[in-house]
Amino acid sequence: MEEKEITILAIESSCDETAAAVVRNGRFVLSNIIASQIALHKQYGGVVPELASRKHIEKINQVIGEALEAASLSLKDMDAIAVTYGPGLVGALLVGVAEAKAIAYASGKPLIGVHHIEGHISANYIENPDLEPPFLCLVVSGGHTHLVKVNDYGSYEILGRTRDDAAGEAFDKVARAVGLGYPGGPRIEKLAREGDPGAIHFPRAKIADAPYDFSFSGVKSAVLNYINGCKMKGEAIVEADIAASFQYAVTQVLIDHAMMAVEEFGLDQFAIAGGVAANGTLREGMRRACEKKGIRFYHPSPILCTDNAAMIGTAAYYEYLAGTRHGLDLNAIPNLKLGERE
Ligand code: KG4
Ligand code: ZN
Repeated sequence: MEEKEITILAIESSCDETAAAVVRNGRFVLSNIIASQIALHKQYGGVVPELASRKHIEKINQVIGEALEAASLSLKDMDAIAVTYGPGLVGALLVGVAEAKAIAYASGKPLIGVHHIEGHISANYIENPDLEPPFLCLVVSGGHTHLVKVNDYGSYEILGRTRDDAAGEAFDKVARAVGLGYPGGPRIEKLAREGDPGAIHFPRAKIADAPYDFSFSGVKSAVLNYINGCKMKGEAIVEADIAASFQYAVTQVLIDHAMMAVEEFGLDQFAIAGGVAANGTLREGMRRACEKKGIRFYHPSPILCTDNAAMIGTAAYYEYLAGTRHGLDLNAIPNLKLGERE
């Protein structure tokens, strides 16, 4: 007997992208539409939550319509409606959640709330048909830095997390300090190509009682102090060297933590996810480190690293198979914990 195909309409609006996708059987992306708000927030140097919510409201119907059209399907072809319900900006999340509930109610389809980080991790399944749990995953985005042991679909153990700034947040703040603007990550990466990563030694924080935890506020402050010191001494500031040295310090810490977990847990697969996973230096460094250890390394394409709805559709498929269904009382939970099912 042929197995039934499961087709899911997924919606993501937790931060500054309004996104919708149609995903079949978890790993086949039939459409993936992303309306980025970067141009809107750029002028303020970062995401303005109130503006993000308003823009989501303006765009969401159009984005969903485009996702269905690009997949050449209509709502009646969907088996479930999935939506990110946390973590994220509450007003932004609410737009997606309210929309998904309305569609689920009107169409009589099941509703599945998805954890945003579970989405990022699941992005790795899309282009890697051989990847299955268990594996280790480093999730590095603008809001999160988690080292996660993925025991099974939907079963996560957080080994370490940031104590202060997220890795992407540090990129964004350093970019602002060297006058690059928002979003910082890709701009730092571009400028770093012209700089010397060994020019300036920025600190790599270690947390004594929690070896897998991260701290990036120290390296960010060190960059700011370095810039102020140069200004006071009347020395020239070489932005490209700052970008390269900062990027090197951050990626070294991420790779060191990752490899420590590989040693301890003995898993033979490692994946990266989240916006910072689009960074070429991190990908290359991780690839080499994994190769040295003789383990397989996975990463999504850049477009699936930053926020998108395809990854939410993938995570939702495995939640669907596990029987997860949400009621129309589903609410946005800005600080939703990974592994918590509401
Ligand atoms: O996953 P994402 O789109 O949103 C969150 O869930 O936070 O990640 C956005 C973050 C931003 O901080 C951005 O600067 C960073 O990812 N980012 C990068 C790169 N592309 C995006 N950081 C370093 N290098 C990149 N190429
Ligand atoms: Zn994200």
